[in-house]
Amino acid sequence: MKKILVTGGAGYIGSHTVVELYNSGFEPVIVDNFCNSDKKVLSGIKAITGHEVTLYEGDCTDKAFMQQVFKQETLAGAIHFAAYKAVGESVAQPLKYYQNNIGSLLVLLDCMQAFAVNNLVFSSSCTVYGTPDQLPVTEKSPIKKAESPYGYTKQVAEQIIADMVRSNSGLAAIALRYFNPIGAHPSAKIGELPLGVPNNLVPFVTQTAAGIRKELVVFGNDYNTPDGTNIRDYIHVVDLAKAHVKTLQYLAGKSGFYDVINVGTGTGNSVLEVIASFEKVSGQNLPCRIGNRRPGDVEQVYAAVEKATRELGWQAGYTLEDALRDAWRWQLALAGKEGAR
Ligand code: UD1
Repeated sequence: MKKILVTGGAGYIGSHTVVELYNSGFEPVIVDNFCNSDKKVLSGIKAITGHEVTLYEGDCTDKAFMQQVFKQETLAGAIHFAAYKAVGESVAQPLKYYQNNIGSLLVLLDCMQAFAVNNLVFSSSCTVYGTPDQLPVTEKSPIKKAESPYGYTKQVAEQIIADMVRSNSGLAAIALRYFNPIGAHPSAKIGELPLGVPNNLVPFVTQTAAGIRKELVVFGNDYNTPDGTNIRDYIHVVDLAKAHVKTLQYLAGKSGFYDVINVGTGTGNSVLEVIASFEKVSGQNLPCRIGNRRPGDVEQVYAAVEKATRELGWQAGYTLEDALRDAWRWQLALAGKEGAR
């Protein structure tokens, strides 16, 4: 079985990817420092897959630690999730973001080169496109000036990886540009565990419906969209996880190769559509009101997904309703209520 290093493998997207790696016959090796994840996720992974996951607890910016992991394990590739991801926090604490998000990538690439591990899948984001000139956004769309240090770490990381590939290091890498990942595993055994008040729409929605938050504030309804609210491409986290496995399979045996691929559904939905869809699948009435625009929000963005289908043979299988139903089930499971199927 091919061993794959999964940095941030206990996190939201990482844990779902670990499950899909097992499902496809890979053996994931998690590196995580649990700064934004919980060890409970390991028992969730075991409950779904039957596997006791291999875990190295530590920080990806710690070179000696990472070298130990590479010495210990014969790796066929790596998926690099470990990073900070809060846009607002990155504006307030840019150094924290540059040190961690760039520092961890540099250490990882150094180890990969030293130990001749050639296949890398990198977690990038649609944020690199900024406000796109054309919709849907293709991979050929220009990279716009980053709105936040978080966004800039994704742009710089892509460039660093491209430079490494160009330097004849043997590296073969793909940056997956995620749109908006939502939902949870349909078993409700793993899902998102936001620390404190969630910044993202769907965890805020489910927490509001569960009575943890008083009301959802819709950030503006005066945008130039059909119902006035922002449009995003919401993708089920299990579909996104599967895209990583397909990407690894695609990279196998390649060297000196770099590409970027969008991972979304190809469909845009407004904030009000998400709320209506959530109310329908959960049977809950969601307390909400219209508030001011949130600074930095892009009016609308959704993916052109032909490249993922053409190159990886991947496309999203779940609908928005599926994802919201699974997000709600996970919220109920967290609350210990009768939520699972
Ligand atoms: C942002 C980043 C994305 C990043 C992600 C990680 C941009 C353009 N996108 O996604 O790159 O990976 O954060 O956290 O910077 N909304 C409300 N009320 C709420 C919360 C959200 O109305 O309480 C709305 C937002 O205005 C937005 C939509 O819901 O229109 C989605 O917001 P969110 O889930 O925060 O994701 P993005 O901002 O799209």
